[in-house]
Amino acid sequence: MRPLLLPLLLSLLLLPVRPTDAAATPATCQSVSAVYAAKNLDVLQVRYQASGSHLAVCPARPGPSCCSREMETALENRAKTDMYQDLYQHLVPQSTSLASLLTSFQSLALQMVNNSYTKLDTSFKSIYGYSYIENKQPFLQFFEGLRAYLSGGPDTVAGVAKALFESISSRVYVLVMTNYDIDEAYLTCVRSRLDQLKPLGNMPERISQELIRAFVPARRFLAGLAALQDAVQMSPATPLPAQCQKSQLRSRYCAWCDGITNLQPCFELCSASMADCLTQLDSLAEPFDQLLDELVKLSNKIRGPNNLYQVLENLGLRISAGIMDMQERKDHIQTEVAKLCGPPKLKANGSPSIVPPPLPRPGRGRRRRRRASMFGWNYRNSDDAPGPSSQAQERLDELALTAKRSLPASRSLFRPSSLAKRFCKADPAPPGRCWNGTDSAAGYTAPASTVASPVEPPTLAVSQRVANLRAAHRLLAELPKSESFAGF
Ligand SMILES: *[C@@H]1O[C@H](CO)[C@@H](O)[C@H](O)[C@H]1NC(C)=O
Ligand SMILES: *[C@@H]1O[C@H](CO)[C@@H](O)[C@H](O)[C@H]1NC(C)=O
Repeated sequence: MRPLLLPLLLSLLLLPVRPTDAAATPATCQSVSAVYAAKNLDVLQVRYQASGSHLAVCPARPGPSCCSREMETALENRAKTDMYQDLYQHLVPQSTSLASLLTSFQSLALQMVNNSYTKLDTSFKSIYGYSYIENKQPFLQFFEGLRAYLSGGPDTVAGVAKALFESISSRVYVLVMTNYDIDEAYLTCVRSRLDQLKPLGNMPERISQELIRAFVPARRFLAGLAALQDAVQMSPATPLPAQCQKSQLRSRYCAWCDGITNLQPCFELCSASMADCLTQLDSLAEPFDQLLDELVKLSNKIRGPNNLYQVLENLGLRISAGIMDMQERKDHIQTEVAKLCGPPKLKANGSPSIVPPPLPRPGRGRRRRRRASMFGWNYRNSDDAPGPSSQAQERLDELALTAKRSLPASRSLFRPSSLAKRFCKADPAPPGRCWNGTDSAAGYTAPASTVASPVEPPTLAVSQRVANLRAAHRLLAELPKSESFAGF
């Protein structure tokens, strides 16, 4: 093993070299040794060569050169690593910011569902007591269903709501029919006629519509963010095409073979060699930007009317109002049910009621009347200091604004031009010179017409990401622009 000190010492000794004249021939390769060592490459590979005709990618000149064949290979590998690093630096901050937006939004949405549950649970316990506690299951399933929906579960939000309202209807029906023996067969008949009977009035319809209007865009917004974030994931498998590293070598390091270490690559050369590296990722550019634009538009809606917070905030109160209406209309409902399903059987005399007492059961205030308890509930709500849920509204606003402001920064992320803008330096003003791939020059002029390099088809990983982006975009694009969400 060579002592690590050697390259260091050499580079220290060689550091104060005067900038090589741009047109210099590599009379000595001292400045090259210095920059080579600074890249942690094996400085013993740098040797003055009488001819550079052995070079494969850098200009193979008959004259002297600083590059051995092994040095050219080492530099080619280095150029590829450099390119990876640049790409990494370009993508990782975007990936991090998208991931954080996604996680914050996701956990806020789940938190709002949980707040809504807690609120409903507390007030239903106090209004309905045991009747609620014993019939809590459908409510638990409902909120679980909403959480699952937001996390991409298979059920529709309309289905989740429908299950709750059907379950409430039949349970409340059983509860108000205290004097009757409602068996399973009878109840099956009642359930099959709920559409017609509408025991809860139009409350289910209205709440379902609002849930749909808030949850469908929210879930698609999350899915869109997830697709963007996935596209930006930088992995070692991110494919760089074969021409990339040669092109990077030419732009970044070939000048060293000529003993030139003080020139930056010309902007156009640097830019073109970035483009050579992004032929794969380039196919992500358009679907990425389209999805991003759609998400920016949606971020306004996410905080607008009919947002998650608004529908979740008073959910319990409104469901309860429907239940109370149903109880008030119980005689009418009973008659209607009897018309459709036949008269219910009266309980045998004296047999103790096995069904819980009718709803609503007043809370602890024994004498409180039904409406009074409702107002009591209202009163407690408005009395609340800004609690977790009103903070949630502020947080929702904040996040939607953050999305609106920060997403556009990721625009054009996969366009070579945006990478070039970031990592390529502008050409120095004349008489400044830059490295044009073969010489010190005033600038780089792309060759007039070269045979177009064959376009590699996107790899599986890339076409998968393209497909994800397009699918997420389609979901956003088909959201109704108006408030009509019929069919969702
Ligand atoms: C919401 O409640 C569920 C079930 O109680 C729990 O598992 C989950 O961690 C809660 N989520 C948040 C964000 O509070
Ligand atoms: C690079 O510069 C040299 C010398 O100025 C010139 O002859 C050559 O055509 C230039 N090449 C490109 C691609 O610009």
